[in-house]
Amino acid sequence: MTCKTLDDLDLAGRRVLVRVDINVPLRDGRVSDDTRIRAIVPTVREILAEGGRPVLLAHFGRPKGQPVAELSLAVTLPALAAALGVPVRFAADCIGAEAEAAAGALPAGEVLLCENTRFHPGEETNDPAFGQALARLGEVYVNDAFSAAHRAHASTEGLARLLPAAAGRLMQAELAALAGALTDPQRPVIAVIGGAKVSTKLALLGNLIARVDQIVIGGGMANTFLAAQGIDVGKSLCEHDLAGAAREIMARAQAAGCELVLPTDVVVARALEAGAASEVVAADACPPDAMILDTGPVSVADIKARFAHARTVVWNGPLGAFEIEPFNAATDAAARAAADLTEAGRLLTVAGGGDTVAALNASGAAARFSYVSTAGGAFLEWLEGKTLPGVAALEAT
Ligand code: 3PG
Ligand code: MG
Repeated sequence: MTCKTLDDLDLAGRRVLVRVDINVPLRDGRVSDDTRIRAIVPTVREILAEGGRPVLLAHFGRPKGQPVAELSLAVTLPALAAALGVPVRFAADCIGAEAEAAAGALPAGEVLLCENTRFHPGEETNDPAFGQALARLGEVYVNDAFSAAHRAHASTEGLARLLPAAAGRLMQAELAALAGALTDPQRPVIAVIGGAKVSTKLALLGNLIARVDQIVIGGGMANTFLAAQGIDVGKSLCEHDLAGAAREIMARAQAAGCELVLPTDVVVARALEAGAASEVVAADACPPDAMILDTGPVSVADIKARFAHARTVVWNGPLGAFEIEPFNAATDAAARAAADLTEAGRLLTVAGGGDTVAALNASGAAARFSYVSTAGGAFLEWLEGKTLPGVAALEAT
């Protein structure tokens, strides 16, 4: 850990600008998953306990630099107050006289949430003048938004250069988990990479080849690899135009001594519908009118055996069309096996990115993993080996 932390900041009596990521899903006008809100509680509570006055900065959705009523952060206030257990005030803008007055008047023991930073164009352009306007709300800056750290925005990057800055506890936990999984892992390390498309995972696969011992490939993207080897995948989701890229990854993996593990058997069906009639066939025997929708049981048994001999598993993406039963079977079974080994103290398991958490949560496995990241895109960019600007800015201070 090369950033400062809350331990290094003097918080007592100070207004602390805390960049959080509470970009949470809504259903019927209410927060439908408060995972990200609960994840920032330790940092905010610690600031309060030290006598600091937390002023929360966050984005919500993609309003593109102008106010959009449906993307007001006010909708998160009940969930925030419930999670934090203290009163949460709201400032209808994140800069300007009213916001400054609200931050200045914040009593000890309460929290101020400021309106969506992305209502201003200067947030995403990382405009120094906008950054200065944000900086006027506080005396120190804490970044607890690992999941927005891939954005070089004013509130995620610029502020670190304008105020004394440190990582919050969630940021710290995310960085520690990721370092344990890839920077300095216990070997063997297995990456489980699934999801629909190879096109979104090319950079990630290219980086992982040099870092992990095995890559288990599942989901729709496995079809592209099978097809690249000349296998007929019928009506399966498949990026035929990426056959060359897939073959190049296979060749590079072989040269680097990283084993790519593709399914040897698959679950096929004629329709992607709940309860659709399905059958298990060899991976090279998909009927011409059928689709591969999940990894098969022989392959799942093989994946479990690999986990039993591994020390570290990094997981991104489902092994099949997990949203629709029974095509969640491989993801569920493999995730449960990884969770069991984790509980037995034999495996370090780190998961994150996109719909991974939803896929692993369905079986209850995610809760038993060593660490589940709150990040989507930031987790992917980190797996790609990219520098995350929000982290780099903290490390530079
Ligand atoms: C996320 O939901 O992954 C983060 O909040 C980042 O959101 P963005 O992709 O709109 O930058
Ligand atoms: Mg202290």
